[in-house]
Amino acid sequence: MPKTLHIKTYGCQMNVYDSERIAEVLAPLGYAPGETAEAADMVILNTCHIREKAAEKVYSELGRLRIAQEAKARRGERMIIAVTGCVAQAEGEEVLKRAPFVDMVFGPQTYHRLPQMVAEATRATGHVLDTDFPEESKFDALPEARTVDGAAAFLAVQEGCDKFCTYCVVPYTRGAEYSRPAARVLDEARRLVEAGAREITLLGQNVNSYHGEGPGGGAWTLARLIRAVAELDGVERIRYTTSYPADLDADLIAAHRDVDKLMPYLHLPIQSGSNRVLDAMNRKHTTDDYKRLVDQLRAARPDLALSSDFIVGFPGETDTDFEDTLKLVADVTFIQAYSFKYSARPGTPAAMMDFQVDEAVKAARLARLQDLLNTQTLAFNRSMVGRTLAVLLDRPGKKPGQMAGRSPYMQAVVVEAPAERINTIQAVTVTSGGPNSLLGRIDGAIERACA
Ligand code: SAH
Ligand code: SF4
Ligand code: F3S
Repeated sequence: MPKTLHIKTYGCQMNVYDSERIAEVLAPLGYAPGETAEAADMVILNTCHIREKAAEKVYSELGRLRIAQEAKARRGERMIIAVTGCVAQAEGEEVLKRAPFVDMVFGPQTYHRLPQMVAEATRATGHVLDTDFPEESKFDALPEARTVDGAAAFLAVQEGCDKFCTYCVVPYTRGAEYSRPAARVLDEARRLVEAGAREITLLGQNVNSYHGEGPGGGAWTLARLIRAVAELDGVERIRYTTSYPADLDADLIAAHRDVDKLMPYLHLPIQSGSNRVLDAMNRKHTTDDYKRLVDQLRAARPDLALSSDFIVGFPGETDTDFEDTLKLVADVTFIQAYSFKYSARPGTPAAMMDFQVDEAVKAARLARLQDLLNTQTLAFNRSMVGRTLAVLLDRPGKKPGQMAGRSPYMQAVVVEAPAERINTIQAVTVTSGGPNSLLGRIDGAIERACA
């Protein structure tokens, strides 16, 4: 009997990747993707622990699932509920205590063991809890075949973090930095292309700290890996995320100059424009280091567009520190950014620091920062009008007859296009630019590979 699986994914792209792999692990057990959670035989929440709000969402979702699980039970059917991802890793026991109807809790490093866990969960009435950091890497045990939804695919090359920024849970939830051997990454990239991928985003919590074993021994840098992926037939676009500024080396900057397939867009989180705050955050870069990197990147690839992450209201952040962040944003210019109010996370050093910032102050600072960032995004999007961009159309648009995709700079672009253009790269002339997306028209029928 085929069974249905519904996975709900929160958090970062690594979780999106993990959810795809979890579905691949469960497929041989007869689980096929199902649209709704209510009807599913198994529901998995792939969770995020980065901020308090993200973690709390899980418990409200579990409350809803419990009702669906009980409704199924009344019909004599079973719904297995599982929690994975960073909340599972950080507070697995707590999840089972607060939501005892959850059947399985497993961390991001153990989902290759799902076949055993499912067997246990189906047999037993107790819970399955597996939040180990196993010696063996899950990557060695995952199925070889890859499925791709659309033409843009994620490929995890590095996982975990040894940086210990004082606000962040990731080093605890994802474990120590691990880089996959280059040959494994290249094999997976080939399989992604066979499954229809044309754009590959190399993923890692600190992707540019990649130092995977090279085929002839010795470690490869991310730049070397990017060059090798660019050699693969069928790969037309490459991106990578997320990068840690202090680990961005000359080799990677040079790759932005040399590798045409590497898209001219880089997500490079800075967090704050104040050196005092950066130091308290245990970031290993200053604002000058960051600006120097940006100058070098723009010298290598003049049209390189930047995005970043910001935290406002870090403990001890003064008005002057915050003004420095605004100044930095004005100086550097970002086409896109994620900004957050600092959220104290249990077990992290910053949560114990003196001078926690008042919520109202955080909210006011966030609003000002977002105003400035939004102005920069809008100005950039408007500056695209009249330009012709190579857009990878990878999904239907909201309205009939429309298709949507991404520009080289990661902007969402909407065009009128027949459905058969899905998963092709089209030359699109931009007709208008709004805060969140561009509108354009396909310019001729010729496909173009790159920016
Ligand atoms: N290097 C990582 C960062 C993951 S967290 C990566 O691969 O993306 C993503 C962003 O969340 C961080 O850059 C930071 O801006 C934000 N963040 C992390 N911890 C936070 C906290 N405690 N409060 C608010 N924002 C936080
Ligand atoms: Fe978190 Fe810092 Fe590691 Fe990024 S580099 S995952 S922000 S500890
Ligand atoms: Fe969240 Fe874990 Fe990613 S905490 S941001 S899902 S690494």
